[in-house]
Amino acid sequence: MAESACLSTMHEWESPDYEPSLPVSEKSNPLTRDIDRASANGIVRMLQACDAQMFQEETGATYQRLLSKQVVETLMEVAKKVERILKDPRDSVVVLSGCGTSGRLAFLITSTFNRALRELNQSSVYSYIIAGGDRALLSSQEAPEDDPKQGMLSLKKVCEGKKRVLFIGISCGLSAPFVAGQLDLCLQHPEVYTPVLVGFNPTHQARDESIPGCTFTFHSVAQRMQELTKSQKAFLINPAVGPEAISGSSRMKGGSATKILLEVILSAAHAATFTNNNTYKGILQHMRAYEKTLDVTFAQKEGISALLEAAGKSLQCGRRVCYLGWGSLATLGLIDASECIPTFGADYEDVRGFISGGYRELNNNEGPLGPDFCIAHEDFLHLVLPFLNDQDIVLLIYTHSDDVSEVAKLARRVREKTSNLHAVYHRVDGDTAAAVQQEDINKLCLSSLKITWSSPASGILAHLQWELSTKLLLNTVSTGAHVLKGKIYQNYMIDVQVTNSKLYCRATRLLQKLSGCPESQCEEALLKTIYRVDKLTADITSSDIATHTLTARNRTKVVPLALVCLLTGCSLMEAETHLEQQPIVREAVEACLS
Ligand code: F6P
Repeated sequence: MAESACLSTMHEWESPDYEPSLPVSEKSNPLTRDIDRASANGIVRMLQACDAQMFQEETGATYQRLLSKQVVETLMEVAKKVERILKDPRDSVVVLSGCGTSGRLAFLITSTFNRALRELNQSSVYSYIIAGGDRALLSSQEAPEDDPKQGMLSLKKVCEGKKRVLFIGISCGLSAPFVAGQLDLCLQHPEVYTPVLVGFNPTHQARDESIPGCTFTFHSVAQRMQELTKSQKAFLINPAVGPEAISGSSRMKGGSATKILLEVILSAAHAATFTNNNTYKGILQHMRAYEKTLDVTFAQKEGISALLEAAGKSLQCGRRVCYLGWGSLATLGLIDASECIPTFGADYEDVRGFISGGYRELNNNEGPLGPDFCIAHEDFLHLVLPFLNDQDIVLLIYTHSDDVSEVAKLARRVREKTSNLHAVYHRVDGDTAAAVQQEDINKLCLSSLKITWSSPASGILAHLQWELSTKLLLNTVSTGAHVLKGKIYQNYMIDVQVTNSKLYCRATRLLQKLSGCPESQCEEALLKTIYRVDKLTADITSSDIATHTLTARNRTKVVPLALVCLLTGCSLMEAETHLEQQPIVREAVEACLS
C-alpha cells in the first residue's frame, strides 16, 4: 500500500461520519476490512498497523490519545494516589477489577506489582477482581459481566475493614454492568473509595442501555465521575486507541493499552515511593518504551507469519495449538488461549496454555481450580502429549532468565510426539548465558523466534516489555490462525458466542449489517437459533436478555445459523445442514450472500 493511501485510511475511523452510531471500541477498523482474504503475511501486517494506532498522536479535538497531555497528566495524578498508599499502606488497598480480558490483566498486573513489593520486603497492597471468579482467568465466563450487584459485592468483600481504597475499574468499551456497579458503590462512599475508570471510548460513548434492577447506566456513572474529576475525587483514563482489528475484540488493543496504562501508573508510583522519582518525562519515556516494544516485536514479521500459518494449518485440520510457557509469559499464553473460546467460538481444546509450576506459579486467589482446569506442564505431559501428532503445533514461550535447561528437557519430550515444535524466546543483547542449551532447543524446533532487547534501565521494565511483546505475538498468532480457519467474515467475528447482553446486541447488529434486514427481524432470527425453534413462542418473546444469553451458552454457530436463515429464508434445520456441508463459516456466509 502506498504511504499516502495508508495515512489517509489510518484516520478514517475518526471521522464523525464513520459508523456514527457505534463507540470506537465497537467500530470496524478500515485497515482490516479484507483480513479474511489476506495471506499470513498480510494478516501480520494489518495487525501491526492496527496496534501502531495505539500510539498515534492526537489529530484534533475529536479523541484523546494514549500520549495526549491530559491523559499523561491523569496518569501522574493517579500514580500519586497509589504512592500515598504505598507510603502508608495501613488499612488501604488498590483494587483492579474487570471482566474477561480486563479482569485477566487486572490479575496479571497486580501479581507483577505485588511481587515487586515483596522483593522490597514491603507488604502487598494490590488486589484483583475478575467477574465470575478465578475460573474466568482460564475460561470464558461472560454472564457475570452483566451483574452489577455481584460486582459491587465482590468489591465490598475485598475492601472489608479498609479505610482507604483506590479502585481501578477496567472496561474497554465503558460498558460492563459489573464494573458500573462497582463504580456506583465507590461514588456512594467517597470517604473510603476513590474511583478510577479505564477504558477506550470517550465518556459520551459509554453504554447507555438500562441495566435491569439499577437506576444507573454505565453512561450515567461515567458522567457522574466526569463531574468529580475536576476536584480529583474520581479519575477517567479513556483515550481512544482506534477500532479493534477484529470488530469489538477488546482483548487485543484494549487489553494491550490497559496493560500499558496501568503498568505506567504503578511503575511511576513505585519509582516515586522507592527511588523518589516520578516525573511527567519519566511517564512519557515508559510509554515510548512500550511503543518501541511494538517495533521490536513486529521486526520479526516473517517468523510471526510462519508461526501464524502453522497454527492456522493445525486449526484447519481440527488439531490443536499448545502454548508451553514459563513465568508470567506463560500466564499470557493461558490468557490468550482462554480468549479464543468466546471470541472465535473455539473449543476448549483448540488452543490451550500450560505454565511451568502450575497453580503454584500462577498464584491466583482461589488456588487450583480443579480437574477441568489443568494448567501445569505435567498435566500437558499426561493429558495432552500422548495424543499429539505432527499436525498439532506446540509453542515454547520463555526468556533467558528462565531455566533454559528445563525448556530443553521439555522440548525433547515434545519432539518424540510431534516435529511441529516452535519456540519464542526473549533475551538481552550480549547475554550468552544459556547459549548451549539454546542451541539444543533450536535444533529440536522447526522455527525459533529470538527477540533480542538492548539492556533496559530497570529489570521490571524489561519484563513488562517481554510480556507486552508476548501478548502482541500470541494475539497475532491466535487471531490470524482463526482467520485462516475461516472464522472471520470481513473483520467481524461471525461465530461469536452470544453469552451476555453486550454480545447479544453485537450479534443482532452484525445480522442487520450482513443481511440488510430490519433489527426486529434479526432479533427474531437470533432468538429462533438460540432456542432452536422455527416459530417463537410467547414464553420466549416475554423472556429477558439474561434468559436468552443463558440458553445461548449451550449452543454453537448461533449467529451463522441465524444469518443463513435470514439470507435464504430457509428453516433452521436446512440452515444446519447447509453449515454442516460448509463448516467454514466465512464460505458458508459468502455462498448465501452471492
Ligand atoms: O463479553 C466478552 C468480552 O467482550 C471479553 O471478550 C472482554 O474481554 C470482556 O468482555 C470485557 O470487556 P470490557 O473490557 O469492554 O468491559
